[in-house]
Amino acid sequence: MKNENLNSSHITWHQSNIKKKNRQKLNGHKSIMIWFTGLSGSGKSTIANALQNELFNKGIHCYLLDGDNLRYGINRNLTFSDEDRKENIRRTAEVGKLFVDAGIVVLAALISPYEEDRKKARSLFEKDEFFEVYINCSLQECEKRDPKGLYKKARLGEISQFTGISQPYEEPKNPDIQINTTNLSVKESVQKILPYIFKKLDLKNARKKE
Ligand code: ADX
Repeated sequence: MKNENLNSSHITWHQSNIKKKNRQKLNGHKSIMIWFTGLSGSGKSTIANALQNELFNKGIHCYLLDGDNLRYGINRNLTFSDEDRKENIRRTAEVGKLFVDAGIVVLAALISPYEEDRKKARSLFEKDEFFEVYINCSLQECEKRDPKGLYKKARLGEISQFTGISQPYEEPKNPDIQINTTNLSVKESVQKILPYIFKKLDLKNARKKE
């Protein structure tokens, strides 16, 4: 394992005897990262949660890394500055990579507003292991929904650096899947993503949970 960005040259990579493919075989499916990006209020967490339910009920080992939730723990020292968002994405992608190595299907739901950071996240994974799902919803619609009342506060200047209002959101140029939640329901969105994901999982003996 080579890493040019290491801060110390006195550490050595120890190879695990149990490999990712052994864990995938045990689980009966491949492990992948499904990365949801989109504006606040676009439906990322809701759709990722609903998709997680479907996968779980099919006996697939899965775990959701939600941007808001991670900011309660591992990312609790990060703000919404460009630099901290970058670090937020980096840490989440690294944690996701560990989960994928452990044989788990990971769903990550973060605004992840910058193309460069999403590209870096993808680069941590093997080809055919990372899938970007763009939850596309107009700013106007997100602001209308405003489920947490944050857009209102951002417009009033009570929250600074708010994505879509006082900070940019760079739309993915080439997402693997694009879901437009201005028109689609949660159920319809999940039904659109599911067949695509199933194909990638190479399902063998994953069982239906009771
Ligand atoms: S990211 O840009 O670094 O990827 P992340 O997904 O972790 O963002 O967190 C976004 C969530 O934090 C939003 O859903 C919202 O609830 C909350 N939030 C609080 N302040 C901001 C802000 N300034 N910009 C965007 N979201 C914010």
